[in-house]
Amino acid sequence: MAPELTVAPLAELRRRRSAKWRTFPDDVLPLFVAEMDYDLAPPVLSALTEAIARSDSGYTAAAPELGKAVAGFAGRHWAWEVDPAQVTAVTDVGVGVVELLRLLTRPGDAVAISPPVYPPFFDWAPEAAARLLEVPLARGEAGYRLDLEALEAAFATHPAAYVLCNPHNPVGRVHTADELAALVRLARLYRVTIISDEIHAPLVLPGASFTPLLTVPGAADVAVSVVSASKAFNLAGLKCAAIVTAGPPMAQAVQRLPGDTEGRTGHLGVLATIAAMSDGDEWLAALLGTLDARRSQLVELLRAHLPAVRWTPPEATYLAWLDCAALGRDDEPRERFLARGRVALEPGTRFGAPGAGFVRLNFATSPAILTEAVTRMAHAATAAAPH
Ligand SMILES: Cc1ncc(COP(=O)(O)O)c(C=O)c1O
Repeated sequence: MAPELTVAPLAELRRRRSAKWRTFPDDVLPLFVAEMDYDLAPPVLSALTEAIARSDSGYTAAAPELGKAVAGFAGRHWAWEVDPAQVTAVTDVGVGVVELLRLLTRPGDAVAISPPVYPPFFDWAPEAAARLLEVPLARGEAGYRLDLEALEAAFATHPAAYVLCNPHNPVGRVHTADELAALVRLARLYRVTIISDEIHAPLVLPGASFTPLLTVPGAADVAVSVVSASKAFNLAGLKCAAIVTAGPPMAQAVQRLPGDTEGRTGHLGVLATIAAMSDGDEWLAALLGTLDARRSQLVELLRAHLPAVRWTPPEATYLAWLDCAALGRDDEPRERFLARGRVALEPGTRFGAPGAGFVRLNFATSPAILTEAVTRMAHAATAAAPH
């Protein structure tokens, strides 16, 4: 097995200028936003430093290399045959989804989402002048899953689109091939377009396997996917994602995107994404092994220090969705962890109403920082409020 990825000392990490390291004062451990603490993958670092060395910082010309890189990655990892000609560069996943919603909905149409879900899902439909229809995930003993019955009832009211989170942030669920097949059946029956946000797909951890929505029979006619290397390779600031279609109806729709869409993608993002998706497999395998180890470590830490917290370890992502209801009566335990423990987590309610009493913790860090964070959280859970 590949050795675990290491993390620079905290003082080094604090020299980073990204949101993770600029939002809170230095005495706070930032485990909130979905950025990782590992160094860049060597092929990505080389691609970026070489580009800077040759002053290659102009506009992007993504095609055809980006399409080929996405197709290569999808084929090797998921046996998903992507046609490079049906890959369209976009600035980021958010821009991709909003532009697709503008194309595929009319003002006032309903767009369904399944909370608890990544907060911008609540903003994307309104940004495209559509309205939200919330169809929460079903929660059971084994964790969360799509509520197919509730989705059928919702689809019967004819929303224009459903934005799927595949795998699902923040709960870490990897929807199964059967669940996705049932979803596609409903979408075809009720003529609902599915936009599948697959940004976390490369982060499926040992024990689970990812089904790209467009590999489900019948999906190509009703679905479009948005993929990116930005979560798995920590490239969020470089601004590159890709819309992928698998057949004429959706490909024709994507051709109606505003002409400037591809050109708004970051050139360095495209170069980094090509490097990551073409030459990043070895590093990605080491990352997944490292995240698997952090996930196990978190199981032990929570058992030892915060046994009242309920959670299901994620099948994908480096995010832990922690039900802290048993720790106290407040709906926003994040405030207590921040004020008393100096640990910054995402507040659960940002992910929708079902997130009351939850926090989301980012475990893409070192064993030492994770231990320190949970120790501080345990202290905060019992300590008196500061005056
Ligand atoms: C499900 C999901 N979609 C999209 C994004 C953001 O992607 P982008 O920065 O490419 O818009 C995130 C970031 O964490 C995410 O979790």
